[in-house]
Amino acid sequence: MKEDQRPLQQRNKSPTSKLFTRGAAYVVLVLLSYTLGYLSHTSPPQQQQLQPPSPVFQLADSPSQLDNFRVTAPCANSPLPPHLVFPTILDRVFNGSSPYSNFPPPYLSSFLKQKRIKGWGSYGAVFQHLIKRVKPQVIIEVGTFLGASALHMVNVTRELRLQTQILCLDDFRGWPGFRDRFKDIKMINGDVLLFQQFMQNVIYFNATGSVLPVPFSTASGLEKLCEWGITADLIEIDAGHDFISAWGDINRAYRILRPGGVIFGHDYFTMADNRGVRRAVNLFAQMNNLKIQTDGQHWVLDTSLAKHN
Ligand SMILES: C[S@@+](CC[C@H](N)C(=O)[O-])C[C@H]1O[C@@H](n2cnc3c(N)ncnc32)[C@H](O)[C@@H]1O
Repeated sequence: MKEDQRPLQQRNKSPTSKLFTRGAAYVVLVLLSYTLGYLSHTSPPQQQQLQPPSPVFQLADSPSQLDNFRVTAPCANSPLPPHLVFPTILDRVFNGSSPYSNFPPPYLSSFLKQKRIKGWGSYGAVFQHLIKRVKPQVIIEVGTFLGASALHMVNVTRELRLQTQILCLDDFRGWPGFRDRFKDIKMINGDVLLFQQFMQNVIYFNATGSVLPVPFSTASGLEKLCEWGITADLIEIDAGHDFISAWGDINRAYRILRPGGVIFGHDYFTMADNRGVRRAVNLFAQMNNLKIQTDGQHWVLDTSLAKHN
């Protein structure tokens, strides 16, 4: 019989201790692979851990983060009385004379229709409801196009025998490609005649005494109105429908809303506007503790109402 050449400790091990050693090795092996697996697992990017996706509305609870997005351009110390609103626009924007004088000039006549109106939700009941409720002396429309909603408001104020002045703020450029659907709005040397057709529509409806255009971008126009001390009892927002445009317009317009006035606008419900108009309105209402009402497709913020939710 061959001599056992294993070391003494091994030679003396009982079957139980052999079993134990194998079991321990197995456990160590399992633990080791588990640890290695854990260490080699890629952890999620740091940013995701620190900033889980959160609704934009959570920002409203940390106002300092939103301060950079507030409008701070200077405004007049006191508002102009309503009867000075039109004279101020005529003076500041139109060199002191009415833009309707001698309109249309002969070279334009053949390019314009006697009347060409097209709007979107421009005859909704909301206009009558709000004009009846607010009895506005001054209305500002932000986004006018051919004047459908502005001229509808003229009709409503006439029916109610109100002496309301309406300012229509629009750059009257439409949007890139709008002539695909409005080929009949003519273009001369690259200049689309939207402003001129709007003017013609106002003349057709005999409304030159109560409607004045303010033909600038909404951002620069609203800032200037604020600087000149022009305020309104009722402001309609219906220009750019992306979040940033709607957010800017609502914030700037709110600064020129008479205390207790109403600001409202179109496109609260269309699907695309869940990303734009509706989100801007909701965030603005939350930040300013205002209650959102809806009327047809329109959103309404009535600053005379306390929030009840
Ligand atoms: C939907 S249309 C307005 C329709 C009008 N409220 C109606 O119901 O008849 C939008 C208008 O906003 C104007 N607009 C869009 N963005 C603008 C901006 N940043 N500055 C000035 N006007 C703008 C366009 O020129 C267009 O005439």
